[in-house]
Amino acid sequence: MIESSDFRTVRIPLNHGGGHIPVLGFGTLIPGAAATISATRDALEAGFRHFDCAERYRNEKEVGEALRAGFKAGIAREDVFVTTKLWNTNHRPERVEPAFKASLERLGIEYLDLYLIHTPFAFQPGDEQDPRDRNGNVLYDSGVTLLDTWRAMESLVDRGKCRAIGLSDIGLDTLLPLYESARIKPAVVQVESHPYLPETELLAFCKAKDIVFLAFAPLGHGITPGPLEDPVVSAVAARVGKTPAQVLLAWAVQRGTALLTTPRTAARARENLNISALPEDAFDEIDRIQTRQRFNAVVTTGSPGFIPQGR
Ligand SMILES: NC(=O)c1ccc[n+]([C@@H]2O[C@H](COP(=O)([O-])OP(=O)(O)OC[C@H]3O[C@@H](n4cnc5c(N)ncnc54)[C@H](OP(=O)(O)O)[C@@H]3O)[C@@H](O)[C@H]2O)c1
Repeated sequence: MIESSDFRTVRIPLNHGGGHIPVLGFGTLIPGAAATISATRDALEAGFRHFDCAERYRNEKEVGEALRAGFKAGIAREDVFVTTKLWNTNHRPERVEPAFKASLERLGIEYLDLYLIHTPFAFQPGDEQDPRDRNGNVLYDSGVTLLDTWRAMESLVDRGKCRAIGLSDIGLDTLLPLYESARIKPAVVQVESHPYLPETELLAFCKAKDIVFLAFAPLGHGITPGPLEDPVVSAVAARVGKTPAQVLLAWAVQRGTALLTTPRTAARARENLNISALPEDAFDEIDRIQTRQRFNAVVTTGSPGFIPQGR
């Protein structure tokens, strides 16, 4: 169990010499250009040094703008960990490097710390990110395997284009065969996780194989009812003098995961960074929560299962 009085400084080493990932990550799934710029800027100012992006979020340009303003103001690029993700329509090996380069260009940075396959589902290749037939069914691409795509990702690492590669929205049944066949093992696996979806088996596998388990929706996407309003979490929060969000984020770090959270105001960015270890009995109480709920269905179809609402 990780114990630290200041989680802002905790970084986990990545396999294959991929550097270190700060455990507290800021997610950029934010609707709207202006909101993306202000929330990213506020997160950087508050002290976040890990930013999670995706071509599918359609705001890499705005995230890049906010990050580059921070670099100009004196924050070193090497001190900021930047991830982005390959979308489902770019799984064909010949599409991987062009998609990677296009993301880098939109972000306006020279290298990526981490590149993830966004989901294990390949969609029909092309510019339409959500290809559907006339009945509204997703058009999948049966002409490419996940391993084909992974080989192209490995080649990006070989050629020094990015420091680490990984997967997202993947279950153990799909991860295992990929892991066995991979020449460069995944450094990070990003999946939904919170007390209602602890993914204990996947976490144990990741720990055994030196893969960083990166939890998204640590606050259950902010959906209520959900972990933020759970009575056990609220009671612990009152007892330790923290907010429910801070308790949930601390629990995630203490169980050995990195996490992504998306505070959209400067005050919440500071709140979500200002977390510290829970007493062991409080940690155990949260571990014993029995409610089970998945908030994001992306893992079953590859289609985004949760789009936050703009304000
Ligand atoms: N791989 C994937 O398929 C995938 C899927 C989804 C997300 N992600 C990544 O994960 C990131 C995290 O997103 P998430 O939705 O999972 O984050 P989250 O932090 O679990 O939920 C964000 C929601 O929580 C609320 N919130 C944030 N801080 C709070 C606080 N201190 N107190 C109360 N409510 C708070 C926000 O409300 P306000 O907006 O009102 O501040 C927002 O509604 C995304 O940005 C994205 O990078 C990845």
